[in-house]
Amino acid sequence: MHTTPPRPRRSALYVPASSEKALAKIGRLACDCVIVDLEDAVAPGEKAQARERMAAFLAGRERDGTEMVIRINALASEWGAGDLAAAKACRPDAILIPKVETARDLLEVNDALDEADARPSLALWAMVETPRALINIGAIAALGRDRGARLACLVAGTNDLVKDTGIRPGPGRQLLVPWLMQIVLAARAGGLDALDGVANDFSDLDAFSAECAQGRDMGFDGKTLIHPAQIAPANAAFSPSPQEVEAALGVRAAFALPENSAKGVISLGGRMVERLHLEQAERLLARAGR
Ligand code: COA
Ligand code: MG
Repeated sequence: MHTTPPRPRRSALYVPASSEKALAKIGRLACDCVIVDLEDAVAPGEKAQARERMAAFLAGRERDGTEMVIRINALASEWGAGDLAAAKACRPDAILIPKVETARDLLEVNDALDEADARPSLALWAMVETPRALINIGAIAALGRDRGARLACLVAGTNDLVKDTGIRPGPGRQLLVPWLMQIVLAARAGGLDALDGVANDFSDLDAFSAECAQGRDMGFDGKTLIHPAQIAPANAAFSPSPQEVEAALGVRAAFALPENSAKGVISLGGRMVERLHLEQAERLLARAGR
């Protein structure tokens, strides 16, 4: 069962920790989540400086409603352990782990956090971006059922998936769709949120909006972004539309009628509506109202 997430994750913007200019913008962006990136966006020669820059920016920062996430380098890499310690010290809402391939990879991070007395509410997000991650996705997502494992969200890493598999996704990302759908399915099985991969072309916002709509239709909760111009289209695509809200209110009103209060299934506007549709409508209204 997919429970309503405690917070919206329609738009999650990667901000390179190496860019002072980008970091300085964080507080003024309308994205639901910021992912300060120490990994792919930062060149090897810049890693140490990026970590310091991140710490300087985030340490004394006032918290606002934006969910703050830090993507570290893989724990097995030369930067992993130092990144994890630095990230924890910034008190983010979550730490995003790249190149997760097995459930064990996440449990190792979790053990390291427990040993460092990380607060229980510090969540983990997992990048799904390698062939092995997709093969093991069921076991990875099952950690979502184990509160102690901290896992809250799966993030599709489409650029790495394309690189590691050699596929050419094609129009409408058609050859990526089966893997993206697997990520959503696994997330639902584990009670997790799922975020779609990035669109590299930040200049074509029409194409971007279409890709957001596709991600929404696949069941993703939001999209990861690379550029501030992508925030508004993503927020729009992953919010319930006025028509959807109206239809949901209609379902709620119909089941509230005294003659329907004991019924499991009713007829509404020529369509069958069951109590599961009422649940679906309530979930949509909760999302629209937050
Ligand atoms: N976060 C915050 N601010 C950003 C940003 C981001 N991801 N991307 C761009 N900006 C800022 C720029 O600094 C610029 O600020 P300014 O108006 O003060 O000069 C403004 O938005 C417009 O940027 P623009 O000139 O259109 O783009 P750019 O050439 O500066 O940057 C990229 C293009 C792709 C290099 C940049 O968007 C980026 O680094 N994105 C994130 C990459 C990343 O994190 N990848 C890893 C995950 S896939
Ligand atoms: Mg990657």
